[in-house]
Amino acid sequence: MKSYIYNNKDNLIDFINNNLNKNNHYEIIILFPENKINIKDEIVNFLNDITNKFSINTQNIGIENQDIILIYKEQNILKYDIKHLKKMALLGDMIANISHQWRQPLSVITSSASAMILHKDLNILDDKSFEKFANNIISQGQFLAQTIDTFRSYIKKDNTVIKTILQEEIKLTLKILESVLSQNYIKVTNNTLKKENTNIHIIKGEFSQVLINIITNAKDVFISNNIKNKEIIIDLKQENNKCVVCIEDNAGGINEDIIDKIFQEDFTTKDNDGTGIGLSMSYDIVTEHLNGNLYVKNTKKGAKFFIELPL
Ligand SMILES: Nc1ncnc2c1ncn2[C@@H]1O[C@H](COP(=O)(O)OP(=O)(O)OP(=O)(O)O)[C@@H](O)[C@H]1O
Ligand SMILES: [Mg+2]
Repeated sequence: MKSYIYNNKDNLIDFINNNLNKNNHYEIIILFPENKINIKDEIVNFLNDITNKFSINTQNIGIENQDIILIYKEQNILKYDIKHLKKMALLGDMIANISHQWRQPLSVITSSASAMILHKDLNILDDKSFEKFANNIISQGQFLAQTIDTFRSYIKKDNTVIKTILQEEIKLTLKILESVLSQNYIKVTNNTLKKENTNIHIIKGEFSQVLINIITNAKDVFISNNIKNKEIIIDLKQENNKCVVCIEDNAGGINEDIIDKIFQEDFTTKDNDGTGIGLSMSYDIVTEHLNGNLYVKNTKKGAKFFIELPL
């Protein structure tokens, strides 16, 4: 936080040229006395003219004959950039997931079509096998359409809050993670489906993003700790005015020395493989956007994350 006392416009121009980098973003607060309102507007217009990378907040200090004071602070845009990069990485992961899920059905489609041609060439294509091949192609095609719909509904997000069923969101997330989970032989037991449907209010995609971050972390620990029977259990507790989604893994838990730090921004134990943004981003989503709480406990088997949401 730095400050500058405004005395005339030329000095202000010099000051900006010498001190503020026009490529950075700044938060500026202008404190102006009662009798200098006209100059305040001039300053604001002037700043707006040279760059749009300022956010300006003006405050009337109510006293007369005082100086106009500019207080400015460089905004931490790096934080937003990392969040953006993380989102892009999530999209990248998802595209990798789509292509993985498409490989198998596509090969069934091409081999069914090839087999049909071969049978025809050999004059052995009877009605029954024709129908079998065609039905195979149709059902695999439907599967392709369905996976693309799942991903599209995840990606196509705006910031409007929607009412949705918690269990559906969990199912959708597990569908997105399906290939990563099966590739790594991770068994997920989703007990939430046994519970009564729970309505929640979320910004589309955000709750799944939290779940994806938590499950992806469990996957990483399963791999680095070389766990044999990898299992994640998802449970749901419903109380009067809140519900709690619990995600427990059997990967050995979180070292007690670092358990208090894992939700901090940039905290990672993965050296070059991690950015440490996953859980801090999840924490922000749950506490700020969903008005809930996110915490973790070690159990006998591993780590157990709790997502508490108001109902
Ligand atoms: N299920 C878990 N079991 C053990 N440790 C965990 C678990 N989940 C998270 N951690 C620890 O918390 C740290 C922070 O997790 P976070 O998701 O914020 O970052 P990251 O996974 O290291 O990096 P990124 O998510 O950006 O790739 C991890 O590095 C890991 O040490
Ligand atoms: Mg992570």
